[in-house]
Amino acid sequence: MSNTILVGAQWGDEGKGKIIDFLTQQADIVVRAQGGANAGHTVIVGTTQYILHLIPSGILRKRTTCVIGNGVVIDPIGLVEEIDGLKKSGIDPAGRLHVSDAAHMVFPYHKAIDAAREALKGKDRIGTTMRGIGPAYGDKVDRVGLRMGSILNVKRFAEQLQQAIKNNNALLKSLGATPLPVKRTMESVLKAARRLKPYVTNTVQLLHEASSKKKRILFEGAQGTFLDIDHGTYPYVTSSNTTAGGMCTGSGIAPNRIDRVIGVAKAYTTRVGEGPMPSEDRIVGDLLHGMGREYGATTGRERRCGWFDVVTVRQAAMLNGITDLAVTNLDGLDTLESVKVCVGYLLNGKRVDHQPSDLRQLAKCRAVYETFPGWQSPTDKIRTWKALPLNARRYAKALARLTGTKLSHASVGPARSQTITL
Ligand code: IMP
Ligand code: MG
Repeated sequence: MSNTILVGAQWGDEGKGKIIDFLTQQADIVVRAQGGANAGHTVIVGTTQYILHLIPSGILRKRTTCVIGNGVVIDPIGLVEEIDGLKKSGIDPAGRLHVSDAAHMVFPYHKAIDAAREALKGKDRIGTTMRGIGPAYGDKVDRVGLRMGSILNVKRFAEQLQQAIKNNNALLKSLGATPLPVKRTMESVLKAARRLKPYVTNTVQLLHEASSKKKRILFEGAQGTFLDIDHGTYPYVTSSNTTAGGMCTGSGIAPNRIDRVIGVAKAYTTRVGEGPMPSEDRIVGDLLHGMGREYGATTGRERRCGWFDVVTVRQAAMLNGITDLAVTNLDGLDTLESVKVCVGYLLNGKRVDHQPSDLRQLAKCRAVYETFPGWQSPTDKIRTWKALPLNARRYAKALARLTGTKLSHASVGPARSQTITL
């Protein structure tokens, strides 16, 4: 393995953090290139559970270098909290974590604006994670954002921040929301900024130097293909390019430096927030929620659940150039007598095999199912492909075949050890 991109092939929460952690044993550098603290990557090592929002999941292995690239939007206060949380569990990111000087920052006013805009949308709300992601990327595109590099000059940064808080307070008022206390907001951001100074660097240069020394780089995609700002189910999407291309622009690594693209998909489908989801089915939701599963790692919200959707994952394979498919949460289906797979949609009585980009048409799509026999035996303690029940193997292989990918991993639980390599 050399340079590998890992992306979510569905609507996020595919188990990317866990697969990244597993793959990190074959990587030197793990990079986040888009998104922000809206991500929640859960990794279990031994008996300890870590939920990472901004720091790459590679941080949990002591010899791995981690990079937060230019495409990420960074909440400085949240990042300091995350660093301190790791330190408490005996992991010190100092010297191993590098933060791009060109990454934009998320400030408390971005979060307040996120909340205010969602409230104004009422029933048309997107269901954001309220982490200020959309407003921060909005400022970036609007060319009024502040980048991590600006904290290196504290005096000037304080002036820029003060002006920005004042401007955004006016915006908050116009949205009918409460403005933020200028002094206190300044203090909390500046305190975090001071702590982050040693982490800030030119990560594009760092990555290119590492790459020319044949270091192996692993890109940790956040969210999922259908939350992509361009290719997702707009407007029910996040504000970054979650697809493979976003890993290049978000890190400064050129596309021809990428050797492998791994797509991660659950053995079923989940989604948090609003927006169409053709294979949504209460049977799957009741099953998984009954097992205490499928609650959001960032917001604690109950995730919407449904059957595996071949149409979406096949489209994800096309958009990302997925070569390898990692199927996660196979064990979630262990008790079922039969397992349904959505193999196509019916739109106004006509069969379609791709997602219509018009959201209203997608909302009208009805899932066409194929039924597979279940395996009805626990898989969570199984560690080899051959030891999996025949029907589980057939099911996982069918998902790869139907989506035009090659099955590379099957995951049967959240722990590092519960990962089967094919
Ligand atoms: P935002 O990224 O907070 O603006 O949220 C936009 C949409 O993306 C909402 O539906 C969120 O629930 C969803 N979303 C954002 N990040 C994640 C994630 O990491 N996993 C799953 N859904 C996400
Ligand atoms: Mg998540």
